[in-house]
Amino acid sequence: MLNPRHIIHAYPDLDSLTLAGAEFWLNEANQAIQQRGAFYVALTGGSTPQSLYRLLATPDFAQRLDWSRVHIFIGDERYVAHDDPQSNFGMARQTLLDAVALPPQNIHPVATDYPQAADAAMDYAEVIQNQVPAGQGGVPEFDLIMLGMGDDGHTASLFPGTTILQEHDRLVAAVYVDKLSSWRVSMTYPLLNQARQTMVLVSGEKKSAILAHVLQQDSTVRYPIQGIDPLGELHWFVDQAAMRELDRQKETA
Ligand code: 6PG
Repeated sequence: MLNPRHIIHAYPDLDSLTLAGAEFWLNEANQAIQQRGAFYVALTGGSTPQSLYRLLATPDFAQRLDWSRVHIFIGDERYVAHDDPQSNFGMARQTLLDAVALPPQNIHPVATDYPQAADAAMDYAEVIQNQVPAGQGGVPEFDLIMLGMGDDGHTASLFPGTTILQEHDRLVAAVYVDKLSSWRVSMTYPLLNQARQTMVLVSGEKKSAILAHVLQQDSTVRYPIQGIDPLGELHWFVDQAAMRELDRQKETA
């Protein structure tokens, strides 16, 4: 059974998903600015969002937004230097941030030059608490949080079998991901689930089995992305390839 609070936006391919996602992002930004004077957004890492970021940087999109009112954060970060090819912030800079008129003070990367990732996580939680207006219970409330989904059902750096899945107090935590042999700093469920709007980008057949499982709220196995249950709306931007398994199951039902 599909979760009625999950809004599924399905498109033929990644290009059409990207175009719709960019329009949604821009609309959320302008609505937030109109209603509250600013737009606080957490970007996702990975490969899927890159075409969307590049599209937002084109004049057709960039000229439709007052970037001086936009505040950029990163939902999760690989614990590497910002100029490392693995850096999510570095990717966001190359695809979007360096191409639009964002005031430098509105851009908030994870500081990855602390000796320990745990120190960076504490620092980032403090930055978010100081910069992002609080919602219910005093938890910072982003206007929009962007997420992706790995083919193992992870989202942000909430990977299966990791300690961060049990983090229900801190807003940001460090986590060592064995399968990647690397440290990550990531927003946690308490912060992610406080967002006014959440958009998850899922493209490709590799993810269709897990996407079908998640969208049908199958509780036989619980993947980390199933812990994303925001106060606001949860918008899935998916392409036909990612929906293949769910569509197949519907046909054979
Ligand atoms: C990261 C992301 C991660 C990503 C998924 C999907 O740091 O890699 O934040 O959660 O969203 O791994 O990545 P793709 O878009 O590359 O499939």
